[in-house]
Amino acid sequence: MREEQPVRYDQNRQCWDVFRYEDVDRILDDPETFSSNPRLASAIDLPPEAEQSPILETMLTADGERHGRLRGVVEDWFRPRAITQRAERFEDIAADLLEDAIDGGRMDLIDDFAYPFPVIVIAELLGVPSEDRPQFRGWSETLVETPTDTSEAALEAFRQRQEQASEELAEYFEAKLEDRARDSKDDLISVIAEAAGEERLSHEEALGFCMLLLVAGNITTTNLIGNAMRCLTAHPAAMERVRTGEAPIESTIEEVLRYRSPVQALARIATRDVELQGMSIEEGDTVVPWLGSANRDPAVFDAPDQFRVDRAPNPHFGFGRGTHYCLGAPLARMEARIGLNALFERTADVRPGGERLQPVRSAFIYGVQELPIE
Ligand code: HEM
Repeated sequence: MREEQPVRYDQNRQCWDVFRYEDVDRILDDPETFSSNPRLASAIDLPPEAEQSPILETMLTADGERHGRLRGVVEDWFRPRAITQRAERFEDIAADLLEDAIDGGRMDLIDDFAYPFPVIVIAELLGVPSEDRPQFRGWSETLVETPTDTSEAALEAFRQRQEQASEELAEYFEAKLEDRARDSKDDLISVIAEAAGEERLSHEEALGFCMLLLVAGNITTTNLIGNAMRCLTAHPAAMERVRTGEAPIESTIEEVLRYRSPVQALARIATRDVELQGMSIEEGDTVVPWLGSANRDPAVFDAPDQFRVDRAPNPHFGFGRGTHYCLGAPLARMEARIGLNALFERTADVRPGGERLQPVRSAFIYGVQELPIE
């Protein structure tokens, strides 16, 4: 595809797929031409009730000045220095989880560790009880789901599921924001409630903020940890080098982000007519830059289909690029490092349990639902 049809139109999904590194780079680097705001899409007809949805009021779907204003509200909390200060607490969380999980020598890496770990971390940062995490999982999975069955009935059921999850999540955070507006604490919900109180954020924006922070960072980080273990168990020599410290854990994590990217694709809307690889993209068209494909482009990566734990340089798009570059990247990298080190310390040998693996139910997210190990 990357070679023969680097930019192609998919009639069914009504969007342009873009596969090459140089084109993905160009799209992410030019937010004025390739907007993140789905309201500009000519193929998407949003029902009036969805127009006011907090999901559409986040930095992820904002452009220009508004995007900068939203991102600025919480940026300081996610800087590497702020995140590093919390490393010890995160190490304790990982240790406690593994102590409970490694029972009888068998565990499910996803259910017992890779899912709860980032959720507990973000719940603590936000300031919500991590015991609510079974609910978070249901909501998050529904919100990142993409429909597989395109029949009218299935699409309607899908839309209803998404609406219900977003309503429940909004209700949940509404109560928390009210609480912090009265009684401020040292947590992200208080920062967001304060910005809303000073009218730097609208009510929908404040709600969208809480929802985005909860959802953006958990399924993705779960899959980074899960995908890392899948890469390493499939490459025992690499596993040995990482375990013994011969290969750095940091470059290993970067290689997993490239080789098995948890976020495979993004979406943008063309704001003007534009040409890409000789194809004419029209204003209002949806454009899908495939990060996972660009990350294996031989024009940029030497032997791209090889998993090399010490690959350098490694300019992958695992966290995107440009103005929307992942806000949580320093946190996700630290969680992966702490999580993998904790697993290495407490297990002598990790082998996949052998059951058939089921992919996550989303076209854009790459990972498995369960990963038994022994
Ligand atoms: C944006 C990936 C973890 C919060 C993004 C984008 C990608 C990405 C590709 C760009 C979206 C775009 O350009 O449209 C990942 C991966 C993660 C991860 C692979 C884990 C391995 C996290 C965590 C958080 C987070 C832990 C925080 C709790 C965000 C936010 C944005 C974002 C708020 C939107 C930034 C903006 O629009 O300016 N992420 N992410 N992510 N991520 Fe992450």
